[in-house]
Amino acid sequence: MQAGELYDLAYSALGDTLTLEPAVATTIAVKHAAKGKALDIGCGQGRDTLFLAESGFDVVGIDISRVGIERLNARVKGKNLKLKTVVGDVRQELLKDEYTLIVCNRVLQDIPQKDSLWMIERMQSKTLPRGVNFIAAYGHGTLETNRLLDEEGHFFGSSELRKLYVGWEILYYSSDMEQIGRATYNPFFTIVAQKPK
Ligand SMILES: C[S@@+](CC[C@H](N)C(=O)[O-])C[C@H]1O[C@@H](n2cnc3c(N)ncnc32)[C@H](O)[C@@H]1O
Repeated sequence: MQAGELYDLAYSALGDTLTLEPAVATTIAVKHAAKGKALDIGCGQGRDTLFLAESGFDVVGIDISRVGIERLNARVKGKNLKLKTVVGDVRQELLKDEYTLIVCNRVLQDIPQKDSLWMIERMQSKTLPRGVNFIAAYGHGTLETNRLLDEEGHFFGSSELRKLYVGWEILYYSSDMEQIGRATYNPFFTIVAQKPK
């Protein structure tokens, strides 16, 4: 199954039960990034995208799930926000511009490792000086949904994400175990980092 199909099904079935609150790391990132262009990669139903726009960023949210983007569009309808949405694969559509803030929240588990590393490199090069990246990514574990995908995504080793941001100021880092269901735990990494001048 392709990621677009999987998440279309998931958002159709579970959409209303999923949180619409931004990630805590997004609220941290927003405090440190200059107001400017922001990008939310794999934005889903847009919990972070909407928060970025409401915080004064000129934001683009991109996702491969049409249903996710439709739900985000419905939520922003009539609001006077600088927010553009794109349905597409980040690997083709991504990063033609430069940004003060780039968010990639729980997406890389769906992206094969070589593309995922390329994406992080590209996120970094397309971040303006003093701009901020926030990535949340799963470690090796048992994320059931990904067994349904045709392509194996990138699951991170401990400290892998941190090493990719050597030379950046680490504003926030956590390495947790996230519980999914009753007995399934996944290592889960979060980094918020600021690019040097
Ligand atoms: C676990 S969800 C996270 C959604 C959102 N970032 C959040 O934290 O609520 C992963 C999202 O990544 C999107 N995605 C996966 N692969 C993608 C790709 N190649 N291009 C664009 N979006 C992708 C999925 O459609 C899904 O909405």
